[in-house]
Amino acid sequence: MENLLKSFEELKRRNLKIDLTRGKPHSEQLDLSNALMTQAVEPIGENGIDLRNYGEPVGIIEARKLGAEILDSNVNLTIAGEQSSYLLMTQLLLGRYLFGLNDNPWKDEEEPAFLCAVPGFDRHFATLEGLNIKMHTVDLCSSGVNIEDLRDKLSKYPNIKGFICVPRHSNPSGEVFSDENIIDLLKITKAHDPNFINLFDHAYLIHDFDETQTQTPIPVLADSLGALDNVAVFTSFSKVTFGGGGMAFLTTGEKNFKLIEKVRNMMVICPDKINQRRHVNFLKNKVNIIEHMKKHADLIKPKFDLVDKKLSYLPNEIGEYTKPTGGYFVTFYAKRPIAKRIVALSSEAGLMLTPAGSTYPYGNDPNDSVLRIAPTYINLDELDIAMDIFVLAAQIAHSQSL
Ligand SMILES: Cc1ncc(COP(=O)(O)O)c(C=O)c1O
Repeated sequence: MENLLKSFEELKRRNLKIDLTRGKPHSEQLDLSNALMTQAVEPIGENGIDLRNYGEPVGIIEARKLGAEILDSNVNLTIAGEQSSYLLMTQLLLGRYLFGLNDNPWKDEEEPAFLCAVPGFDRHFATLEGLNIKMHTVDLCSSGVNIEDLRDKLSKYPNIKGFICVPRHSNPSGEVFSDENIIDLLKITKAHDPNFINLFDHAYLIHDFDETQTQTPIPVLADSLGALDNVAVFTSFSKVTFGGGGMAFLTTGEKNFKLIEKVRNMMVICPDKINQRRHVNFLKNKVNIIEHMKKHADLIKPKFDLVDKKLSYLPNEIGEYTKPTGGYFVTFYAKRPIAKRIVALSSEAGLMLTPAGSTYPYGNDPNDSVLRIAPTYINLDELDIAMDIFVLAAQIAHSQSL
């Protein structure tokens, strides 16, 4: 312990300031899309509309086609939105909350609730909480949702309206859901309630480091089960081109589509069609996008390898960690309830981590054990020091807890 503390004090003296909190792209990744900044756009779109004017609240047709190609969805049921997938998700939730799918808005219900896959994404929890939707957790397992836990929670809690998860390179724990798992999830939830909505946040749909993890597209699986209105699948170009400056996509069934169209007509007279067209010109098609994403992977993968190498120094009795095949995060599972302590110690040495608990609804990690590491935003040198701090903090926190 003495040696650990001595090394830690040395790191503290360096007055470091390193940010590992959010899954943001590094500026080198943003540079991959710089051509977007200077591209001239012809004013008339594919179907003759003037891109400079109002209109097309569900997106220009060429952008919707691109979204449908990526999502493997029906173009008529695919929205190309602006800015972020998060906006589309909130618009759909608002529609269900205010108007409902069959004139049965959640706002009129006793205590509408959602199931949330854990560990999960803090911003999902914030939105649901903001709408006063009660949240219950469902555990993840290596193949996706823990189906036993799902059944248990559906029978245990009343008024569950939907489920939210990240089905590929899950944020933060990296799972890639198997087809069987998704099929089970859809069958069980639809049988529970024909209006049940599964929100699949495909933020990392095309963000692979290796391409071995195949997955049948969710719209295809849902269609084959007659469950298109039981899913809403989202993705965006926020981590393909520019954060908040890309395009976002949603596909769902006809009823949900009409609902979100209604909400968008209330608040978005038109998306940024010039930016949509610019993205279509730049990214062209799915094959080209996959090539573009390989360049991202080349920049990101060494960072994940470094995190893996550093965390491998920690003995198993202190904690275990994930080895994702894509996405933006590594998850560390401490064996003892020391996550908050690791964050506090790291902060003393100038390393900012996502707050402990943030991967659970209401910030409540029952075991105080899960930490999310987001290695993409900083460069390799900084990451090297950051992980030294993390490893030391974990060792110290573990020893102190004994
Ligand atoms: C699971 C997940 N969904 C959504 C987002 C944000 O995507 P967008 O910018 O399209 O809202 C992120 C970004 O960190 C994410 O991890």
